[in-house]
Amino acid sequence: MGRKKPLKEDFQLKERMKIESEVFDKNTLLSLFKLMKKGIIGSVENPISTGKEANVFRGKTPDGAFVAIKIYKIETTHFFRRKTYLQGDPRFEKIKNNEKEIVKAFARKEFKNLEICERSGVNSPKAFYVLDNIIVMEFMGEEGLPYPTMELVGPLNGKADLDSILDDMRRMYKEGLVHADLSEYNILAAEKPIIIDLSEGVVLGHPHSEIFLERDVTNILKYFAKKGIKKDMKKVLEQIRK
Ligand SMILES: Nc1ncnc2c1ncn2[C@@H]1O[C@H](COP(=O)(O)OP(=O)(O)OP(=O)(O)O)[C@@H](O)[C@H]1O
Ligand SMILES: [Mg+2]
Repeated sequence: MGRKKPLKEDFQLKERMKIESEVFDKNTLLSLFKLMKKGIIGSVENPISTGKEANVFRGKTPDGAFVAIKIYKIETTHFFRRKTYLQGDPRFEKIKNNEKEIVKAFARKEFKNLEICERSGVNSPKAFYVLDNIIVMEFMGEEGLPYPTMELVGPLNGKADLDSILDDMRRMYKEGLVHADLSEYNILAAEKPIIIDLSEGVVLGHPHSEIFLERDVTNILKYFAKKGIKKDMKKVLEQIRK
């Protein structure tokens, strides 16, 4: 008998394995198993988003409720370059200077920042658990479909959305936090806009926190101005810092 021709299914499986091993390095797979053993997650499902720094998956708890699982990529130099976001933050000054530790610190940072948001009443996902480079958080969507970013669908409620975002910025600032990467790309469009992606958020002790705040406000006001909704930068900053 001659050599068997590879079946189409074999090929598909190989391709899938390739994709999965690209997405989950060995350590990430181990961490995912630990999360399952701890009963934090029951399954990892389809990717919601694949990006430079992180992939976000929909997953389920053992009870079958949806969760969002954000997995920071270890194999990236991106975080290494952005170390300044950690360096000025008194919470993360003692991080070792290797890439893996820096990526894990970014995951812990986002987790802590999400907790601050929850405490201050910001409309953002609830943080459930952080392990290594993985954050498990509340899934923001409807019937298993994630809400789109504001960049994709625009604000749903015009000025009310701008007011809600500025109010959330004020709440964060009051708790000593600046998002530092706020734009229509990191806001989900829902009945009330949802603030996400807090990995770069810095505490007010950070030497650039005020500059980051001004940059965030500029991004938001520019975006809404393009939609015909205008506010005065100086007044907005005063309101936030009040
Ligand atoms: N809690 C969540 N619920 C539903 N969808 C989410 C949630 N968190 C993130 N997402 C989806 O994943 C996308 C990427 O998330 P996020 O902005 O936090 O990652 P990122 O750091 O920007 O990743 P990258 O820069 O590598 O793209 C979001 O635009 C959104 O579509
Ligand atoms: Mg983002």
